[in-house]
Order: sequence, then structure tokens, then C-alpha cells
Amino acid sequence: MLFPYHPIARPCRAQTVKPMTSQRILTGITPSGTPHLGNYAGAIRPAVEASQRPGVESFYFLSDYHALVKTDNPERVQRSTLEIAATWLASGLRPERVWFYRQSDIPEITELAWLLTCVTGKGLLNRAHAYKAAVDKNLAESEDPDAGVTMGLFMYPVLMAADILMFNAHKVPVGRDQVQHLEMARDIAASFNYRYGGEHFVLPEAAVDESVATLPGLDGRKMSKSYDNIIPLFAPPDTLRKLVFGIVTDSRSPGEPKETEGSALFQLFQAFATPAETEAMRARFAEGISWGEAKEALFNKLESVIAPMRARYEELMDEPARIEQVLKSGAAALRAKYATPFIARLREAAGLRPLDRLPASPANSRAKALAKPQFKQYRETDGLFYFKFVGGDGRLLLQSQSFASAREAGQAVAGIKNGEDFEQWSKLAPGASDVDIRQAIDALRAD
Ligand code: TRP
Repeated sequence: MLFPYHPIARPCRAQTVKPMTSQRILTGITPSGTPHLGNYAGAIRPAVEASQRPGVESFYFLSDYHALVKTDNPERVQRSTLEIAATWLASGLRPERVWFYRQSDIPEITELAWLLTCVTGKGLLNRAHAYKAAVDKNLAESEDPDAGVTMGLFMYPVLMAADILMFNAHKVPVGRDQVQHLEMARDIAASFNYRYGGEHFVLPEAAVDESVATLPGLDGRKMSKSYDNIIPLFAPPDTLRKLVFGIVTDSRSPGEPKETEGSALFQLFQAFATPAETEAMRARFAEGISWGEAKEALFNKLESVIAPMRARYEELMDEPARIEQVLKSGAAALRAKYATPFIARLREAAGLRPLDRLPASPANSRAKALAKPQFKQYRETDGLFYFKFVGGDGRLLLQSQSFASAREAGQAVAGIKNGEDFEQWSKLAPGASDVDIRQAIDALRAD
């Protein structure tokens, strides 16, 4: 079957289409299970919508290294990676507009994780909720405190910090359970910046969206794999119907008015319906709709939203090689543009340097690292106007084209400071990279 819009039918041109923009949003999805309605309404749908807003550069990735902490089943990691990648693409994520990749395809992330490990206090990680919960459970059972605790679990926050800091993300949409990890990422970034003197990393912020509903599951508790109460997003229609008819309700009979407040059925309906449809359903509850009718209405609503995505999903699942290709090309473009030049700078900062190039003196290099980058505007003998962008270390980063007036040159400078694509007005100087520009602009904005 063919669809008018197929998410990966066109060639992936991630490198050329995405503008360099002011806000970088990044989030990871751990492939350790099958996506359910709660994941869709709470994470996937808002992320896909956010990625369509202008002025945002989005990074969505499958955190498969993190999956190794959560499951010991290799087949499950692979299967879940495929399912989750297909789910995001079927839900409308456009890989030519956002960075969509798999963590383990970017070896610079694990390299960065070690650089960060070396500036992370063990005490900081001792306080991580997930680790503490494991220790508390052991103690309650009179076990050794660290019984069954892997270093993967202990180091989880450092790897997560590396995911975020590698791309200097400003905002990280996460659930409330991940807020502590974001605080740790900020601490770790600040330690690195302090130890090696410079604005190497932006301090990221958690974005917890309070307006996104956490969906109830079959039993009315939060929909979660660990409660075994989920409705898989792409269950076949007959399974979906059976599950919907199994949602708990109270014992009110047909004709009796029903509460919408606290009704799992109503909340699920609301998450997939328009405001007008929701209001109409609220009225039917008040009029005493029977639970059977309400379930039928919910099933029909879900099916109408999900069916087109399910069809795309099934098509994608039949072509794993194309998904593999989308992920691989996303990672390759991202490495070339950001990860490879950035890790080179971080290695340099940490002292992993070629031996034939010793710095003048430590005091000198620290002072240089702390100077601000600068835009310099000037007029040439040809009567035209130009600007240069010079890094805090005095290195030329951008050279502009000519402008007829100082005002136009000034507007271009303002545009670049705002995060607009510098290539409209200027060229990278030899040896400079996108990462240098991004960091210099972040440093300019830092106060
Ligand atoms: N730990 C996150 C979770 O379990 C997944 C994740 C891994 C992540 N790396 C990340 C989220 C970086 C945000 C940013 O949900």
C-alpha cells in the first residue's frame, strides 16, 4: 500500500536542510520495551510537534547504551530499537528536519563519558535516586548494599550527561523522574568548565511539561510497563478493542450519570480527541452513557487516530534496512558537523594533545580561554563594509561577504548572534568548524 506521505521515502539530507538555530532541544528514548499509548501522548506526540516549530534544532536519539543497564536481553534491545525507531518515524518525525540517531553510532559520546567521569565526584553519584533505591532495597533485605548493582547503573547519569553535553543542548524534555539527572549533568558540565577554564559546555535545563497528561493504564494507575497495564500503541485493531473493553470502570448502570473526574476511560478519550469532542463526551457522561457505549466511542476515537500511523509503522517494520539507513546517516552527519570537531577540542582542553605543540605558559592559555569572542566590523578600501568573527583565543572564525552599508553588515551580525544561519552572510575561516561558531556565540551570550 502506498501513502501520500512516507516519512523516509525521500533521501535524508539532514546536513543541508537544518538551519543553525538558537535553541537546541535534545532527548533520549531508551529502547527497552514496546511503545504504548502513554509514551505516545506523553513524549512522542509533543516532541514531534515541538520539532516542527521554527527556531529549534532538535535531537532525538535511541539511548541503546542505556538500555544495557535496564535489560540483559540482547534480542530485546535490538527489537525495541527497531520498534521505537519505526514508531517515531510513523508518528511524523521528519529525519530531514531533526537529528534522529542511535547513541551507539556516535563513539564520541562514550569517549566524552570518560572525560566527564574524571570530573564527577563519586559522592554525587552516590546520591542518584536509582542507585540509592537499589541500595535501600538491598539493606532492607539484609544483603550487601551493592549486591546486584552494576557500574552501568551507577554511571548512568554520567553517560546521560555525555549525551546532552556532546551537543550542548539548552533544553531537555524529560519526565519528572529524570530531573535529578539533569541537575547532575549541570554539575558535571560546570566541573569540567571550571577545571579546564572555559565555556566548553552550556548548562542544560530540564523541561518538564506539566500540561502533558500522564495517561492512566487499564487498571486506572499511571500507564507503565512496570504495572503491566499498558495499551501498546500499535496493537492490531481487535487486540486494541479487547484491551479498551478491559479498562476498569465503576459499577454504574446505563442511564446513571457518570463522573468524568478520575475516569480512566474519559482521560484516555480526552488525550486523543479534540476539545469539542471531549466536551461532547463530557455531556454524554452526564446523561448516563453506558460503559459499553463509552468504550466503543473510545475504541473508535483511538482507531481513527492510530490507524494511519499503524499502517505506516507496519510498512516501516517490513523494511528494517531503511530504518538502519536513516539512523546511520543521521549519526554520520551529526558526527561530521558536531561530535568529531567537538571531542577534538575537549581532548585538547583536557591535555590529550599532540606532543609537538606545547602551550606558551599555563597562565597565558587560561587568560586566552577566558577572553570573549568578538565581531569586528570595518570598511575596506573598496568602500564596502565587512565583518569578522574572532574567537576568544584570537582565532579567525568567520569572514563576511561585502555589504553596501554598515547597517546591513550590522544586521547580519545581529542575525548570527541570534543563532541564524551564518552561511547567509559569511564563510567559515579555514580550520574553523560549526562547533567553534556555536560555542563562540554561546560564550557571547553567557552574560
Ligand atoms: N534516561 C532517560 C530515560 O530513561 C533516557 C535518556 C538517556 C535521556 N539519555 C538521555 C533523556 C539524554 C534525555 C537526555 O528516560
